Amino acid sequence: MTEREEIKTLVSDLHDHLSWLKAEGFDTWKSEVPFSVLQDNPPPLTLRGIRADLGDCQRCRLGETRKNLVFGVGDAKAELMFVGEGPGADEDAEGEPFVGKAGQLLTKMIEAMGLSRERVYIANIIKCRPPQNRNPQADEIASCRPFLDQQIAAIRPKIICALGTFAAQTLLNTQTRISDLRGHFHERNGVKVLPTFHPAYLLRNSGEKKRVWSDLQRIMVDLGLPLPERK
Ligand code: URA
Repeated sequence: MTEREEIKTLVSDLHDHLSWLKAEGFDTWKSEVPFSVLQDNPPPLTLRGIRADLGDCQRCRLGETRKNLVFGVGDAKAELMFVGEGPGADEDAEGEPFVGKAGQLLTKMIEAMGLSRERVYIANIIKCRPPQNRNPQADEIASCRPFLDQQIAAIRPKIICALGTFAAQTLLNTQTRISDLRGHFHERNGVKVLPTFHPAYLLRNSGEKKRVWSDLQRIMVDLGLPLPERK
């Protein structure tokens, strides 16, 4: 995180905390908040707090083999969040999601929408790389899922773009194929979810790029972003 992003996150956390104090009837940040209030109506989650809670996570076996835990990057108040499957070798080495070849394509897709990586939030279903990029196992997903749920609750995006089969099926708790899920808005705990093909799949099947672009345009319309003029 750059210094500027860090300051922005701090200010946003402070703002949320002060709003919570006010809503609970405390008029100064110096107020002593009784434990009963903290228990019944806890202060809002912050990405910083969630990251701290994860710590040097060893809740599943992936903790033993990963180099870096890949938490997520971007705007803590993003309207649009992208969720992929899990870190690959490049992401494991750098501790940042979508920085390899598929990540470079995702960055281009985001920029084609008139956005940037800094204006959206990018995360994965699991935060640690499975050895040899094997598929994540059910207990690994189960250990990691509460933290993604907390990130979504903290960011409160308007739309989640689920990238690929694994993210779409996990977020929507379904076994329906990505080709049937993609291109439509679904709902998950009050947040719209639009599944589309994973950028790694697009690298192998460039003919599907048109479909993905039309999915991204649906998101742009919903967010009120200007569509590029047709040539
Ligand atoms: N693929 C993913 O699903 N996530 C990443 O972070 C990188 C590649």
